[in-house]
Amino acid sequence: MTSQKAFVRENTATITPSLVPELQLNLANETCPVWLQTPEHFSKLGIPEPFWAFAWAGGQALARYIFDNPEIVYGQTVLDFGSGSGIVAIAAAKSGATHVIASDIDEYAEAAIAINAEKNNVNIEITRENFIGIDKNWTTVFAADVCYEKNTALMITTWLKSLVSSGSKVFIGGPRRIYLPKNGLESVIRYSKETVSRLEDTDLRNAQVWRVV
Ligand SMILES: C[S@@+](CC[C@H](N)C(=O)[O-])C[C@H]1O[C@@H](n2cnc3c(N)ncnc32)[C@H](O)[C@@H]1O
Repeated sequence: MTSQKAFVRENTATITPSLVPELQLNLANETCPVWLQTPEHFSKLGIPEPFWAFAWAGGQALARYIFDNPEIVYGQTVLDFGSGSGIVAIAAAKSGATHVIASDIDEYAEAAIAINAEKNNVNIEITRENFIGIDKNWTTVFAADVCYEKNTALMITTWLKSLVSSGSKVFIGGPRRIYLPKNGLESVIRYSKETVSRLEDTDLRNAQVWRVV
């Protein structure tokens, strides 16, 4: 993970997400090289697009919700699926979860989560295992901004519903419902934050948390 960690550090700055002033994370802003690059650039380098370099609206909404309602994670085993920067996992760990697992299939996300966990003084288990279809009896499962491709979104939401049937509490974060199921989601809270950042500008005005029921 050494070279991935170096890449993350070289391409990020210390940033406080607008909705989550409790945290400082290594993320990209307009001054960082990855901000201006195209998907083709990363494809040529043979690395995935750096989703880990941003605190997405869904991640910020879920992290905010966790900090404001720590009882939903306190003393529990928590999975943050598709963790990216680790924002949701870190919020859960800081809010009293006993065991936090951050999963992301991208090895650069794995490095970013490790850097950000250390920066915020929390212990998180990080894995690149693809958990879709797997049930490890997590008490609470979070999935923020992971439903951006139609087919994958269907697989993910079907799996999340099955976790609810087995007794897990499952929360989804995102800016909008596209690719989310029409039924079986209960709206929990919606945040609306004006920001100056180009990336956050559209999404953070519509950052939401849903519970899978
Ligand atoms: C848009 S980012 C959201 C990151 C973070 N949850 C947030 O809200 O800031 C989506 C993340 O999901 C990860 N991902 C996609 N498919 C995955 C899978 N099957 N298992 C784990 N992570 C996955 C991607 O690598 C990416 O880091």
